[in-house]
Amino acid sequence: MDSSLNSYLEIRKQMINDFLIAYVNKVKMPDQLKSSILYSIRAGGKRLRPILMMAATEAVGGKSEKVLPAAAALEMIHTYSLIHDDLPAMDNDDFRRGMPTNHRKFGEATAILAGDALLTLSFQVIMETEALTSDQKIYLAQRLSQASGASGMVAGQILDMESENQEIELDLLEKIHQCKTGKLISFAISAGAYLGDANEQQLTNITKTGEQLGIIFQIQDDILDVSGDEEKIGKPVGSDTTNKKSTYPQLLGLVGAKRKKEEHVMSAKKSLSQAAVDNTMLSLLIDHLSHRDH
Ligand code: IPE
Ligand code: IPE
Ligand code: MG
Ligand code: MG
Ligand code: MG
Repeated sequence: MDSSLNSYLEIRKQMINDFLIAYVNKVKMPDQLKSSILYSIRAGGKRLRPILMMAATEAVGGKSEKVLPAAAALEMIHTYSLIHDDLPAMDNDDFRRGMPTNHRKFGEATAILAGDALLTLSFQVIMETEALTSDQKIYLAQRLSQASGASGMVAGQILDMESENQEIELDLLEKIHQCKTGKLISFAISAGAYLGDANEQQLTNITKTGEQLGIIFQIQDDILDVSGDEEKIGKPVGSDTTNKKSTYPQLLGLVGAKRKKEEHVMSAKKSLSQAAVDNTMLSLLIDHLSHRDH
């Protein structure tokens, strides 16, 4: 990886980790719940959604520190979604972020509640942030709930479950990817641009970039489930095959999935150039995320 990209990612990852850990430590809650939440947060994770939010703010001339609380809120929702995604009733996976999954370590009931708590904490952190205006809080609460809830990530997760053991059309698969992964990634980019005071043209086109990047991200996740290295991805390879999931490689083959991903990369870059922002870092991030090995 390009060393300037590497240090860009590391610096922002550290900022987000420090913020998350300090925030969760500060909130009063039962010890077992705090241990379970901190376990999944400390397990690591690439923090790509918060980093994308910061990069989008910077692309329109804003300061990344300003978006930290909103970025942390998004990472809380993402971490909750992973804890629940791994549960026996869902993907039934034993490893995540290189460690036993939350329910393997703390039991199912605690894992479910840790997820519930992270979901609500995410809105709490937004509401408690004095540096955000009331309008910004309303925007974030509305867009984040749309992206993560019944028409967003959760919708994608139920469609994903319903599509197990099925031969589905590409249109439906794209919709599943858009919902279960795309909406949170797209929120990251559009909320980052909004908080950086983007103009209408920037916001519209950067949102389209985010939508494409979300699909790219999940196609690569599907590809890594087939051909990734378990040590690197920190979660089981072959989980999708075991669960008979509908995925891009399953529907199009590995070569077809990669080709489709490249089409989305082209669209993402086209929208990014139409956004007329400082696109250097976002463009590097699109390439990095589409070829990541973990
Ligand atoms: C994994 O997301 C789940 C998907 C939505 C594809 P990440 O690959 O961002 O996982 P972490 O946060 O780095 O563990
Ligand atoms: C999960 O998709 C998307 C979420 C909303 C968590 P996957 O089930 O493919 O994610 P991994 O591969 O377990 O991280
Ligand atoms: Mg899943
Ligand atoms: Mg899964
Ligand atoms: Mg996966």
